[in-house]
Amino acid sequence: AQLLLLHGPNLNLLGSREPEVYGHATLADIDAELKATADAAGQVLESLQSNAEHVLVDRIQAARGDGTAFILINPAAFTHTSVAIRDALAAVAIPFIEIHLSNPHAREPFRQHSYFSDKAVGVVCGFGADSYRYALDAALRRLPPDA
Ligand code: DQA
Repeated sequence: AQLLLLHGPNLNLLGSREPEVYGHATLADIDAELKATADAAGQVLESLQSNAEHVLVDRIQAARGDGTAFILINPAAFTHTSVAIRDALAAVAIPFIEIHLSNPHAREPFRQHSYFSDKAVGVVCGFGADSYRYALDAALRRLPPDA
Protein backbone atom coordinates (compact mmCIF):
# COMPACT_ATOMS: atom_id res chain seq x y z
CA ALA A 1 0.00 0.00 0.00
CA GLN A 2 1.00 3.60 -0.37
CA LEU A 3 1.37 5.84 2.63
CA LEU A 4 1.80 9.61 2.46
CA LEU A 5 3.82 11.46 5.11
CA LEU A 6 3.19 15.22 5.21
CA HIS A 7 5.15 17.80 7.19
CA GLY A 8 3.99 21.38 7.68
CA PRO A 9 5.82 24.69 8.03
CA ASN A 10 9.24 25.06 9.68
CA LEU A 11 9.75 21.32 9.97
CA ASN A 12 12.44 21.68 7.26
CA LEU A 13 14.48 23.26 10.08
CA LEU A 14 14.30 20.22 12.36
CA GLY A 15 17.62 19.46 13.99
CA SER A 16 18.51 23.12 14.46
CA ARG A 17 15.09 24.53 15.34
CA GLU A 18 14.57 24.85 19.13
CA PRO A 19 16.24 21.46 19.75
CA GLU A 20 15.17 21.54 23.40
CA VAL A 21 11.55 21.38 22.14
CA TYR A 22 11.86 19.43 18.91
CA GLY A 23 15.01 17.32 19.36
CA HIS A 24 18.11 16.85 17.22
CA ALA A 25 16.83 14.55 14.49
CA THR A 26 16.60 16.22 11.08
CA LEU A 27 13.65 15.84 8.75
CA ALA A 28 15.87 13.81 6.42
CA ASP A 29 16.65 11.43 9.33
CA ILE A 30 12.95 10.97 10.09
CA ASP A 31 11.95 10.51 6.45
CA ALA A 32 14.74 7.98 5.84
CA GLU A 33 13.84 5.93 8.87
CA LEU A 34 10.14 5.86 8.07
CA LYS A 35 10.78 4.96 4.45
CA ALA A 36 13.01 2.08 5.56
CA THR A 37 10.38 0.84 8.02
CA ALA A 38 7.61 1.01 5.41
CA ASP A 39 9.84 -0.72 2.88
CA ALA A 40 10.64 -3.54 5.31
CA ALA A 41 6.88 -4.01 5.76
CA GLY A 42 6.42 -4.24 1.99
CA GLN A 43 4.76 -0.83 1.73
CA VAL A 44 5.67 2.41 0.00
CA LEU A 45 6.00 5.71 1.84
CA GLU A 46 6.28 9.07 0.12
CA SER A 47 7.03 12.23 2.08
CA LEU A 48 6.55 15.93 1.45
CA GLN A 49 7.37 18.99 3.55
CA SER A 50 5.99 22.40 2.71
CA ASN A 51 5.81 25.79 4.32
CA ALA A 52 2.86 26.61 2.06
CA GLU A 53 -0.69 25.69 2.96
CA HIS A 54 -1.82 25.35 -0.65
CA VAL A 55 0.95 22.88 -1.48
CA LEU A 56 -0.27 20.60 1.30
CA VAL A 57 -3.90 21.04 0.20
CA ASP A 58 -2.97 20.21 -3.41
CA ARG A 59 -1.02 17.09 -2.36
CA ILE A 60 -3.88 15.84 -0.22
CA GLN A 61 -6.33 16.39 -3.09
CA ALA A 62 -4.05 14.40 -5.41
CA ALA A 63 -3.95 11.54 -2.90
CA ARG A 64 -7.54 10.65 -3.75
CA GLY A 65 -6.53 9.45 -7.20
CA ASP A 66 -3.06 8.06 -6.58
CA GLY A 67 -3.76 5.03 -4.41
CA THR A 68 -2.79 6.53 -1.05
CA ALA A 69 -4.27 4.29 1.64
CA PHE A 70 -3.17 6.23 4.72
CA ILE A 71 -1.87 9.70 5.50
CA LEU A 72 0.51 10.59 8.33
CA ILE A 73 0.59 14.33 8.95
CA ASN A 74 2.39 16.74 11.23
CA PRO A 75 0.56 19.93 10.27
CA ALA A 76 2.94 21.95 12.52
CA ALA A 77 1.61 25.50 13.00
CA PHE A 78 -1.23 24.76 10.56
CA THR A 79 -2.58 22.42 13.25
CA HIS A 80 -3.91 25.45 15.02
CA THR A 81 -5.02 27.52 12.02
CA SER A 82 -5.92 25.52 8.93
CA VAL A 83 -9.54 24.89 8.10
CA ALA A 84 -8.34 24.41 4.49
CA ILE A 85 -6.12 21.41 5.26
CA ARG A 86 -8.78 19.93 7.53
CA ASP A 87 -11.34 20.26 4.72
CA ALA A 88 -8.96 18.67 2.20
CA LEU A 89 -8.50 15.62 4.45
CA ALA A 90 -12.27 15.35 4.89
CA ALA A 91 -12.79 15.69 1.13
CA VAL A 92 -10.49 12.82 0.19
CA ALA A 93 -11.76 10.68 3.08
CA ILE A 94 -8.40 8.91 3.49
CA PRO A 95 -7.70 7.87 7.10
CA PHE A 96 -4.98 9.94 8.76
CA ILE A 97 -2.93 10.10 11.94
CA GLU A 98 -1.95 13.48 13.44
CA ILE A 99 1.65 13.66 14.68
CA HIS A 100 3.55 16.14 16.84
CA LEU A 101 7.09 15.95 18.14
CA SER A 102 6.24 18.06 21.18
CA ASN A 103 3.19 17.70 23.40
CA PRO A 104 1.09 20.71 22.40
CA HIS A 105 -1.16 20.19 25.44
CA ALA A 106 1.78 21.04 27.72
CA ARG A 107 2.58 24.27 25.84
CA GLU A 108 0.96 27.64 25.11
CA PRO A 109 -2.85 27.75 25.19
CA PHE A 110 -3.02 28.54 21.45
CA ARG A 111 -1.45 25.15 20.73
CA GLN A 112 -4.10 23.29 22.64
CA HIS A 113 -6.68 23.46 19.89
CA SER A 114 -6.23 21.34 16.77
CA TYR A 115 -8.34 21.52 13.62
CA PHE A 116 -7.40 17.87 12.97
CA SER A 117 -7.72 15.76 16.10
CA ASP A 118 -11.47 15.14 15.95
CA LYS A 119 -11.14 13.79 12.40
CA ALA A 120 -7.94 11.78 12.95
CA VAL A 121 -7.84 8.02 13.45
CA GLY A 122 -5.50 8.90 16.31
CA VAL A 123 -2.99 11.47 17.52
CA VAL A 124 0.61 10.77 18.57
CA CYS A 125 2.42 13.63 20.33
CA GLY A 126 5.16 14.32 22.83
CA PHE A 127 7.71 11.64 21.91
CA GLY A 128 10.01 13.63 19.66
CA ALA A 129 11.00 11.77 16.49
CA ASP A 130 9.56 8.62 18.07
CA SER A 131 6.09 10.13 17.56
CA TYR A 132 6.57 9.46 13.85
CA ARG A 133 7.70 5.87 14.46
CA TYR A 134 4.69 5.10 16.63
CA ALA A 135 2.32 6.68 14.13
CA LEU A 136 3.75 4.64 11.25
CA ASP A 137 3.48 1.47 13.33
CA ALA A 138 -0.18 2.27 14.00
CA ALA A 139 -0.85 3.00 10.32
CA LEU A 140 0.80 -0.24 9.17
CA ARG A 141 -1.44 -2.18 11.53
CA ARG A 142 -4.52 -0.47 10.15
CA LEU A 143 -3.97 -0.69 6.39
CA PRO A 144 -6.99 -2.05 4.59
CA PRO A 145 -6.31 -5.65 3.47
CA ASP A 146 -6.82 -4.82 -0.21
CA ALA A 147 -4.55 -1.74 -0.24
C1 DQA B 1 4.43 20.79 16.24
C2 DQA B 1 3.67 21.57 17.31
C3 DQA B 1 3.06 22.86 16.74
O1 DQA B 1 2.38 23.57 17.76
C4 DQA B 1 4.16 23.74 16.19
O2 DQA B 1 3.60 24.89 15.56
C5 DQA B 1 5.09 23.02 15.26
C6 DQA B 1 5.47 21.65 15.54
C7 DQA B 1 5.18 19.57 16.81
O3 DQA B 1 5.53 18.69 16.04
O4 DQA B 1 5.43 19.51 18.03
O5 DQA B 1 5.61 23.62 14.32
O6 DQA B 1 3.48 20.32 15.29
